[in-house]
Amino acid sequence: MALELNILVGTMTGTAELVAQEIELTMGDDDTVITVTDMDKLDASLLKPGSLYLICSSTYGSGDVPDNARAFYESLQSALPNLEGVRYGVIALGDRTYVQTFCFGGKKFDAILSELGASRIGEVCIHDASAGTMPEEVCVEWAQGWIETAREAIDA
Ligand SMILES: Cc1cc2nc3c(=O)[nH]c(=O)nc-3n(C[C@H](O)[C@H](O)[C@H](O)COP(=O)(O)O)c2cc1C
Repeated sequence: MALELNILVGTMTGTAELVAQEIELTMGDDDTVITVTDMDKLDASLLKPGSLYLICSSTYGSGDVPDNARAFYESLQSALPNLEGVRYGVIALGDRTYVQTFCFGGKKFDAILSELGASRIGEVCIHDASAGTMPEEVCVEWAQGWIETAREAIDA
């Protein structure tokens, strides 16, 4: 059966969107059906048990989620849905020069999803904009392993 993956994008200047599109282009096929959705269209009711999500979010302000992700993030905080049966992964984009709040956007999503009962698959993918590596390269390479791990978890 095909793996269905929903990538949810939180971005300010488009890097997270580029990363998500690159994952879709590189890994989407008949066996791995990938959709990319901007978080500004979402609220907490989107997350369904049995489904697989990849949060792909940068960080702004003083360790905040990007503006387009705020309503979705706040709807999770206020609706407090029971997310048992939801599986997810996280790509957290940031910049290590923001020492105190490095990658907090993605990390905040990880914290609230797990608090609400969702199960994270794999480790969080971290990209540091000050490291000189291309985010789409680092994240596509990570996603190749992550998708295999997700497939095994769902088949188990
Ligand atoms: C005004 C501003 C504030 C930022 N604040 C943080 C931060 O608190 N922590 C962090 O890790 N990165 C921070 N960043 C870095 C971005 O998250 C990083 O460059 C990311 O790759 C941008 O992705 P995007 O284009 O999808 O928004 C900040 C960048 C800007 C321009």
